[in-house]
Amino acid sequence: MSTASSDKNTADPYFQSLFADRIGGANYGKDTEIYKFEKIKRAKRKALADHPDRALLDFGIGENDSMADASVRKVMNEEVNKPENRGYSDNGIGEYKEAAARFMQRQFGVTLDPATQINHCIGSKPAYAMLPACFINPGDITMMTVPGYPVAGTHTRYYGGEVFKLPLLAENGFLPDLDAVPDDVYRRTKLMVLNYPNSPTGRTTTPEFYEKVVALAKEKEFVVVQDAAHILLTFDGKPLSFLQTPGAMDVGVEVHSMSKGYDMIGWRMGFVCGHPRIVSAFADVKDNSDSGQFMATQKAAAAALDDDSIPQRINAKYRRRLEKLVATLNECGFECEMPGGTYFLYTKSPSGTKSGVTFAKAEDATRYLIEQFGIVTVPWDDAGSFLRFSVTYVAATEADEDALMQETKKRLGDAGLVWNA
Ligand SMILES: Cc1ncc(COP(=O)(O)O)c(C=O)c1O
Repeated sequence: MSTASSDKNTADPYFQSLFADRIGGANYGKDTEIYKFEKIKRAKRKALADHPDRALLDFGIGENDSMADASVRKVMNEEVNKPENRGYSDNGIGEYKEAAARFMQRQFGVTLDPATQINHCIGSKPAYAMLPACFINPGDITMMTVPGYPVAGTHTRYYGGEVFKLPLLAENGFLPDLDAVPDDVYRRTKLMVLNYPNSPTGRTTTPEFYEKVVALAKEKEFVVVQDAAHILLTFDGKPLSFLQTPGAMDVGVEVHSMSKGYDMIGWRMGFVCGHPRIVSAFADVKDNSDSGQFMATQKAAAAALDDDSIPQRINAKYRRRLEKLVATLNECGFECEMPGGTYFLYTKSPSGTKSGVTFAKAEDATRYLIEQFGIVTVPWDDAGSFLRFSVTYVAATEADEDALMQETKKRLGDAGLVWNA
């Protein structure tokens, strides 16, 4: 290669110095840090190259393995051909909001006015990108649980705000210690983002915890955003909505997703519901960001929300798979229990192997398990060292699930993992 062309490839474009500080400024694109999921991808590629005949046992994927229910796809098929669905839907159609209101009433006994207390979103992820725009000025704080879903924090920082991390520790039952937060932090806090059932810890919460949050929000004057993405994957009782808590409607919103509970990950549908003034601020920001989800998709999602048998089936499948995984891992030295919710099992990472390998953190254990045994997990080192196993692996039948568990047991047995070696 000539010097001239390699110079050309490495030269910065004239706009390199124009990138905003929030994405790295003039250093944008030059970061050499490799992110967690890229490391996992690389380890998977190496495992497949080194052992082409050994199938990966993939507990890393965090996406539902099934298509949306046939009845929902049928509605989509019909609606897609109707001319009245072709245009911008702006802040959404009444049909979807009304279905969401019926859903909230049936599932949780929560009464909402679909016109003022519910607004759709194109999946719940963009809602976490938009809600900070409603509240955060430079210097304001968003409190977020860690480990957790980071989007609201990223956007808080984009607006010049700060993130105060609430660690979810095993010794506190993976609930944040709200009494440990300094008063100065509460004074500057505008948003508190919670997520129950919690990803990745699998912990659900109690009415008492939510009552405490409502009281604190009123006392310290902040807004609560509760992420209910996994709410229909609750296993330890009836799913609990934050809005069931007396007074919750005065202090915040809950964000629901069609992704996990309805096998509709790629369809991009969810809704924000709760206090009308917050819903309206969200709708204003959203209206300046997108033009609404395709109306056919909203109508198909409305049909899904009206059919409780769909989330019941999905819940039963992931519950069964989690029960099998818990039993299998416990036979291999892990100490885990059935999670309260989500399709994740979050369990203490091994510290090494009987053969003398040691892992300083969960990330090392993950790489070792992928490369040596073809077992894929996701490491979490934010608050203790944990591995996350997802039961969204592809298995067509229960017999396939059982065979996968047998193979998992065999390989983990060969790995000879130890804890606190
Ligand atoms: C805790 C949590 N919140 C929100 C989301 C976003 O879901 P979606 O944008 O598909 O509604 C996810 C997806 O992984 C999640 O795990």
